Amino acid sequence: MLVKEGFAEVEVSGVFYNPRMKFCRDVDVIVFSVMPGKLYLDALSASGIRGIRTKLEVGKEVVLNDINPRAVEVIKRNIQRNKVHAEVCREDANILMRKRHFDHVDIDPFGSPANFIDSICFSAKKCISVTATDTAALCGSAVNSCLRKYSCFVEKLEFYPEVGLRVLAGKLACEATKYDKALNFVVCWAKEHYYRIHAIVKRSPRLSAKIYESVGYLVYCKNCLWRKTVPIGETTSNTCDRCGGKVKVYGPMWLGKLKNSKLLNRACRENLKLSKVESSNIYDEARSFLEKLSAEVDSQFYYELHEICRRLRISPPKINVVLEELRNRGFEASRTVLCGTGVKCNAEIGEFEEILIDVLSECNL
Ligand SMILES: C[S@@+](CC[C@H](N)C(=O)[O-])C[C@H]1O[C@@H](n2cnc3c(N)ncnc32)[C@H](O)[C@@H]1O
Ligand SMILES: [Zn+2]
Repeated sequence: MLVKEGFAEVEVSGVFYNPRMKFCRDVDVIVFSVMPGKLYLDALSASGIRGIRTKLEVGKEVVLNDINPRAVEVIKRNIQRNKVHAEVCREDANILMRKRHFDHVDIDPFGSPANFIDSICFSAKKCISVTATDTAALCGSAVNSCLRKYSCFVEKLEFYPEVGLRVLAGKLACEATKYDKALNFVVCWAKEHYYRIHAIVKRSPRLSAKIYESVGYLVYCKNCLWRKTVPIGETTSNTCDRCGGKVKVYGPMWLGKLKNSKLLNRACRENLKLSKVESSNIYDEARSFLEKLSAEVDSQFYYELHEICRRLRISPPKINVVLEELRNRGFEASRTVLCGTGVKCNAEIGEFEEILIDVLSECNL
């Protein structure tokens, strides 16, 4: 079977190919255009689609690898079909990443990337890209699995997509410090069945030591939904500041920024120019997603409107009205691409609930 995606046309018979990941690959090529480094390794290539698109649409030098001989045959044919030059390897990705360094290393595994994280941090000189589809472990449904794979304790909370991202980002950032590498996250998102992270790597013992200033714990009260974060090394009380209930402590996880808006805006501007030149709208959906993401408020752990309203026993007001009222009262507020009913803002939970109640009573006047 032949499929067209981006500028590529690939054969996918007998190898893994998920058409639902086209959107993810569209986002990738937009972001890759502003990520540094020439030599890109698609370490788990399957049909080679990601690497071939990176060559065709971003112009990087690419190496495509898969352990499966059938996949390697398909990759070679796909390279010829698309008339691109690329090196093809048939190795265990962990061995390849230990043997060689690449500017940019991308792993897109079945399930968890945990088994590849050490090698990717070792091999990558300038950038890393990672997919995870073990969403149950990352979002806190499979508590034990998250402990074993990500050395992190979390349970399922109403803002679980963000928790999962912060667990994965934290694991990557901490593992990279072993090699004196500091990660700067360009973009991280969760959608459907997967999490995806792109980060720039800087080799510096000083910067990698600073990474731990952005790693810590989420302290959360299931009774009143109050939360706060504490950095590594600080203590916290066992009780909720708001209701006096018993709190839970989750982590360690990434508490710093999950995006670099300046770079993302540049990527979107350049992609818009390219799309005009090519008279193509293939990137429109991905670009609009990145524009929204880049404009989001940089707060930690969004509020999920429905859960808060359920607890207050009120019906959820329109999210746009809530956002407007938050801004009127001087808070920063935005939606989040992670959840249609999520609100990112710098208001405390008590202030947020007050606004919901006020907004509803004004609607009912
Ligand atoms: C999810 S697929 C990759 C999909 C592809 N990146 C895409 O965008 O369509 C995972 C691929 O990794 C390969 N694989 C699994 N374990 C591997 C390993 N240890 N080393 C190299 N390849 C591996 C599998 O053969 C499979 O083709
Ligand atoms: Zn409480």
